[in-house]
Amino acid sequence: MADLDLAYRHRWVRSGLFLLHEAPHACRRSCCLVLPLRDCRASPLLMRLAILAPLSQGLKMSQYWSHGIGALRPYIPGEQPAIDNIVKLNTNENPFGPSPLVFDAIRSVATDSLRLYPDPEATELKATLAAYHGLDPREVFVGNGSDEVLALTFLALLKHDAPLLFPDVTYSFYPVYCKLYGIDFRQIPLTDSMEIRLEDYDQQCSGIIFPNPNAPTGIGLPLAAVEDLLVRRPDAVVVVDEAYVDFGGESALPLIQSHPNLLIIRTFSKSRSLAGLRIGFAAGHANLIEALDRVKNSFNSYPVDRVALAAAIASYRDERYFRRTCAAIVKIRSALMLRLSAFGFDVLPSVANFVFARHPRFDAAMLAKRLHERSIVVRHFEQPRIREYLRITVGTPSNCRSLIDALSEITTQGRVD
Ligand SMILES: Cc1ncc(COP(=O)(O)O)c(C=O)c1O
Repeated sequence: MADLDLAYRHRWVRSGLFLLHEAPHACRRSCCLVLPLRDCRASPLLMRLAILAPLSQGLKMSQYWSHGIGALRPYIPGEQPAIDNIVKLNTNENPFGPSPLVFDAIRSVATDSLRLYPDPEATELKATLAAYHGLDPREVFVGNGSDEVLALTFLALLKHDAPLLFPDVTYSFYPVYCKLYGIDFRQIPLTDSMEIRLEDYDQQCSGIIFPNPNAPTGIGLPLAAVEDLLVRRPDAVVVVDEAYVDFGGESALPLIQSHPNLLIIRTFSKSRSLAGLRIGFAAGHANLIEALDRVKNSFNSYPVDRVALAAAIASYRDERYFRRTCAAIVKIRSALMLRLSAFGFDVLPSVANFVFARHPRFDAAMLAKRLHERSIVVRHFEQPRIREYLRITVGTPSNCRSLIDALSEITTQGRVD
């Protein structure tokens, strides 16, 4: 970085005299190479790279940034490779496309109407969700993906004097939101069998958030355990992130009427196969929803566009397709878990559309690397407690066969380094 500071100070930046090289995500450091202009000019490739390298990457522009931005450690999303023919098992997308009704709905709104803003209240989508889940529309909030719904929830409902509690191994966006908003938080360790034990959350706090099933473990909590927590903790906001609940988990939606402190967050990205459109929703007491609306309308009045609204409503009109694809994923998951176990993997008991598995003899980071070389992308987290695991999305049967064949090849070669 010293070189870059120097380059910046000498205004070489503006004359394109350097190349930036962004190091791999895991090490989260940028480094740069300062090259004399004549070297860049001498090589068309270098010249192109110099132009392509975004000048902002790694630049220390802190004199222009708001306070605290330099200290942020943003969430790192899973890789979205720009190449075809890969087996993509790293971000828990649905291997089956959306319902055909979704495509019809998208075509029907691809008209001149797109010049108009969408309904800021997403009235029809809220009515659809409310009717389907047995709620009042005032108990529903919709947003631009559940990540946005979560972001608004952290600000609207989880920022208090007492800390927020969540598991030590969980969705890695939670600590990011806390740091963004300055929310005090405490991470509660999973048990040795990587389960959430809700009795461990009986401590001073203002809010509790956890996914059910948990990510990245895939392990679900029974409804009774969530209900017991709500009975014990009427003083805290309890947020259950049900991103993966449709693949065999138990939803806490039936508890909404009896627990005004419960908020449930869902996504259309997984079981509804609409990750590309960014739609999520929250369900809870109208009083909690009011707080979300206030924050949303202080931030972005139109978070869900016309195309996404039409697609989301259509996906709820095709119940058969939804059930059929979820059931298929559950079936493929069982087969995948068996195959991985047969290879000697320890596989956690997943009720999500992914499995979390480790091999006692093979390093997970190296397995992920070897799979990547074979165009199979899985997720590895370089984090305490879980660095020996791989998180593998349940793909099509053919995706899973490719994975198993590759693992077989890698492990029988006996070396992964
Ligand atoms: C537990 C959990 N919650 C929320 C999300 C966000 O989903 P989206 O923003 O696509 O709705 C994810 C995404 O993978 C997740 O794993």
